[in-house]
Amino acid sequence: MVADLVPGCKLVADIGTDHGYLPIYLVNKGICESAIAADINEGPLSAARKNIAETRVKGKIETILSDGLKKIEKADCVTICGMGGELMCEIISHRKDSMTKFVLQPQRSVDDLRCYLAQNGFEIKKEAVSREGDKMYCAFYAEFTGEKCEISKREALLGKKELHCDKKLYAEYVVYRKKEIEKALSQMEKANAAGDRKAELEAILKVYQEAENEVREDN
Ligand SMILES: C[S@@+](CC[C@H](N)C(=O)[O-])C[C@H]1O[C@@H](n2cnc3c(N)ncnc32)[C@H](O)[C@@H]1O
Repeated sequence: MVADLVPGCKLVADIGTDHGYLPIYLVNKGICESAIAADINEGPLSAARKNIAETRVKGKIETILSDGLKKIEKADCVTICGMGGELMCEIISHRKDSMTKFVLQPQRSVDDLRCYLAQNGFEIKKEAVSREGDKMYCAFYAEFTGEKCEISKREALLGKKELHCDKKLYAEYVVYRKKEIEKALSQMEKANAAGDRKAELEAILKVYQEAENEVREDN
């Protein structure tokens, strides 16, 4: 899913690469001519080095020990996957001006990340979701345009519906997210918890319910 969002380019930098599978795939498939596989930890980076060494594209992928983008001088596209949205915001805040294309696959705080991007001049141009086993994931492609704006809670949580290419999967994703909130709320009710967090979750649930009604009407 992530690789499908990456625009063809000369140099991609995968931040938090871990095993290095994404840059290996991107170069192997010819989507990107070359890649940087970067990680903050030596352990994952040596795993990436080992995996890269076993491929025919090894000369085209450089590994760099780097906290986010701090040691990355240039990249036509940056991919950041499998981390929390807050950490992604922090990493993007250190981008060089020339780094304008980002493919992001946040594990949590997806809404905070979409808000940050909008407020900092990025436009999300493509959205995708996927299912693996009983889990669902989202990812998107964002470009820096310089135009800053605020977005609604719904757009922050789910992205713009029209940017999702697979409408059926998008509908499943809405229900999946809604169920997560219902579960969290029922646990809070069992624990007799109240307060700001409960009110926040109830507001989020309403957003998902509205989105679910809409996709039901569409179908
Ligand atoms: C859960 S793994 C995700 C691996 C891979 N990107 C994926 O989606 O399958 C997160 C990786 O991010 C790395 N990481 C965490 N914080 C980082 C940072 N500030 N800069 C670079 N890498 C970081 C971790 O060392 C770990 O290898």
